[in-house]
Amino acid sequence: MKNFDEYNDKSRRDGLTLDSQVVHGATGMDPVTGAVSFPIYQTATYKHPSITDRTGYNYSRCINPTREEVERTMCILEGGARAYAVSSGMAAIMLTLSILKPGDHVVCSDDVYGGTSRAVKEVLAPMGVANTSVDLSRLSDLMAALRPETKMIFVETPTNPMMKVADIAAIARIAHERGILTVVDNTFLTPYFQRPLALGADIVIHSGTKYLGGHNDLLAGIVVLREPDLGQWYEIRNHVNGAGLGPMDSWLLLRGMKTLALRMRRHNDNAVKVANWLRNHPKVEKVYFVGFADHPGREISDRQTTGCGGTLSFRVDSMETVNQILARVRLITFAESLGGVESLITHPVSRTHTEVSEADRLALGITDTLLRLSVGIEDADDIIADLAQAMA
Ligand SMILES: Cc1ncc(COP(=O)(O)O)c(C=O)c1O
Repeated sequence: MKNFDEYNDKSRRDGLTLDSQVVHGATGMDPVTGAVSFPIYQTATYKHPSITDRTGYNYSRCINPTREEVERTMCILEGGARAYAVSSGMAAIMLTLSILKPGDHVVCSDDVYGGTSRAVKEVLAPMGVANTSVDLSRLSDLMAALRPETKMIFVETPTNPMMKVADIAAIARIAHERGILTVVDNTFLTPYFQRPLALGADIVIHSGTKYLGGHNDLLAGIVVLREPDLGQWYEIRNHVNGAGLGPMDSWLLLRGMKTLALRMRRHNDNAVKVANWLRNHPKVEKVYFVGFADHPGREISDRQTTGCGGTLSFRVDSMETVNQILARVRLITFAESLGGVESLITHPVSRTHTEVSEADRLALGITDTLLRLSVGIEDADDIIADLAQAMA
């Protein structure tokens, strides 16, 4: 077995589209036996040949071949120089935020995942890292928030759950002129629809738990770096941090990613149908969906993405309707998370966004009557029929 860079046989992938790349991954098979499923190296440690000879493998917290295959594959899909697979999206976020030092300042999307907001406000702030939350769909707000000590801009696009769109290329340009790192949480669209590094971002983060894994059966996080410069820093932090993704979960993630292209297209097409149906329902006041032609971020989306993904939010007329939907859905499951093959619905105020203050939630539009729907890959007509019966 060779090490990370040595095994990256780029010639096998020359000219392939992302649809083919996701199926085969980086190495795509066991380099020793030819088994077409990459092996699960379920080991904590590795035998040394002698005191002077090294295999490149020492201890699975630091390096594991199955995890490396995930990392190589994510480098290819996101167009990065180095990737790190860790135990959850939050582990990826914390690993990245821990670049910051006391006295630094981070600007963050105002409508980020609740865990990111909590990490910035409740973990980083007491350690002396200042933060400002900004609507990053408005570049003038970003400019007003920048300080000489700003070291990172943390972007989520589209945002969760209000589906606001930020212009990654414009933000990265502003950041680079000032020596600031641009980090993009690409969980919602995946590299299949959006490739932030190609747009100028420095670091991409994923909750691999969502669309990358795709089956609601694992937790994983990914960090991909555009340039290798930060790699040494990550290497050390990752070893100390001890959050490396386990071999079994690495393999599940690899298996899930093989169908990423098929799933993303189906999620996307289903979401378009469901969003249009919801829009015309008398109990629905507003649907937040990037795929609408009149979405305020349409022009940016057309430029920087090739699809709108499968997640949407909608506001209904009353709490009675919220309760009725959550109690009556049968095909759709009332559960947290998103991006899996099964359709899931959640109530941000009481579930995903409990950490966000009421004032902040209301300012963003996250009211009691807002629901978030992760449209799965079932038949769109069945999903719509389920919503119809639940809302009748
Ligand atoms: C956009 C986004 N980023 C990060 C996370 C955190 O990922 P995980 O739950 O895998 O820790 C989530 C979880 O919902 C998310 O939606």
